[in-house]
Amino acid sequence: MKILVVGAGGREHALAWKLRQSPAADLIFVAPGNGGTALEPRVENVAIEANDHDALLAFARDRAIDFVIVGPEAPLVAGIADAFAAAGIRLLGPSAAAAQLEGSKIFAKEFMLRHGIPTAPFRAFDDEEAALAYVRQRNAPLAIKADGLAGGKGVMLTRTIAQAEAAVRALLGERRFGAASARILVEDLLVGEEVSFIALVDGQHVVPLASAQDHKARDEGDLGPNTGGMGAYSPAPLVTPELHARILREVMESTLAGLRAEGIMYRGFLYAGLMIGPDGTPWVLEFNCRLGDPETQPILLRLRSDLLALGLAALDGQLNRVRLTWDPRPALGVVIAAGGYPEKYRRGDPILGLDELERSADCTIFHAGTRWRDGRLVTDGGRVLCVTALGADLAEAQARAYAAAARIRFAGGFYRRDIGYRALCALARTAPASAGG
Ligand code: AMP
Ligand code: GLY
Repeated sequence: MKILVVGAGGREHALAWKLRQSPAADLIFVAPGNGGTALEPRVENVAIEANDHDALLAFARDRAIDFVIVGPEAPLVAGIADAFAAAGIRLLGPSAAAAQLEGSKIFAKEFMLRHGIPTAPFRAFDDEEAALAYVRQRNAPLAIKADGLAGGKGVMLTRTIAQAEAAVRALLGERRFGAASARILVEDLLVGEEVSFIALVDGQHVVPLASAQDHKARDEGDLGPNTGGMGAYSPAPLVTPELHARILREVMESTLAGLRAEGIMYRGFLYAGLMIGPDGTPWVLEFNCRLGDPETQPILLRLRSDLLALGLAALDGQLNRVRLTWDPRPALGVVIAAGGYPEKYRRGDPILGLDELERSADCTIFHAGTRWRDGRLVTDGGRVLCVTALGADLAEAQARAYAAAARIRFAGGFYRRDIGYRALCALARTAPASAGG
């Protein structure tokens, strides 16, 4: 089969790397891909941007692509799945109607309210004065959120009324994110522990992936500005079998049932960002209509099942026949970022040290912002690489990932030294001294 992966990040490198291991995969194109996908055997980059639906469709027709998988949210929210469905080309990913769960935070919140899915109390506004009045009446702490896609930057967590007012003014008054902040949400702030829960759904059935957790903040101790994610690990020890069952029932299955009741077919990956309250309630902070980045990297390193077969089963509505198998060992990924990320950062710095790393099945370097220039690998994005390793326990996975990361060098490159610390602390609290984690 000929496969097309849409996107350019570490998630897409991991998808291409995993798909090429499927016996039925002959050739995999990645549009536009990165310096890492360019190196994978039987994988070719195609110079088409992820949001150029017409060019992607023309390419897929021309090369008789059998299966398409879309990494990022923007093309899905803009209706790439609808365009490919109309052309009769098989694409794994939700329609524009279904992708509204990520494309409009207000749609998602109102949907959750209609279907009894646990989420923080909120109000939606398009009028600045009305929003300010609500802020003063509701009182801090509050989360103020742009309705539309804002590249992960549209959420402001505020501790005081003055901060909340400033956030309302920036989003609604100054339209910081253009049309994406023409409407906003004002939401109560929740306390608890965050987890990501990602499932593959086929409209009827839900197949949960292994649990995972990312670290969104740039700095150690989960401080500093929010990023796309500075590292991730799988499994997330917080997700006990009881909590897993609860999330599946109260969030995933309720969401799918709600979508069906509203006549919306959801096929693809569905990601719930959750806050687990002190009483164990899985509150939904957000939905994403795709796999997480960097969560995908440790998740796919652990997946033993055939990803292509899984994707095709989802398109056929046959996920009830699927059993996933996982490497029982934990995996952990550390993102190496360019200096300045998540704000302005440099591009074009040569990346050194990758050639000297021994090839190992237990450690894989997924590329994100890299490209080839005159035969040299150079930086080409904020998140440059995700060094992902398996270990007998999480501590070993972490040690392996950091040992490899320490040998990779480029000007200004940096990474957090504490990816996985929350999970390691939780494991230390619950495990007897003799247990390996
Ligand atoms: P979102 O894009 O909605 O997931 O928000 C980004 C981040 O903001 C989340 O990962 C949480 O850390 C935080 N966040 C969002 N909404 C809330 C909330 N209601 N209470 C507490 N934290 C929140
Ligand atoms: N790592 C968070 C996300 O992909 O949205």
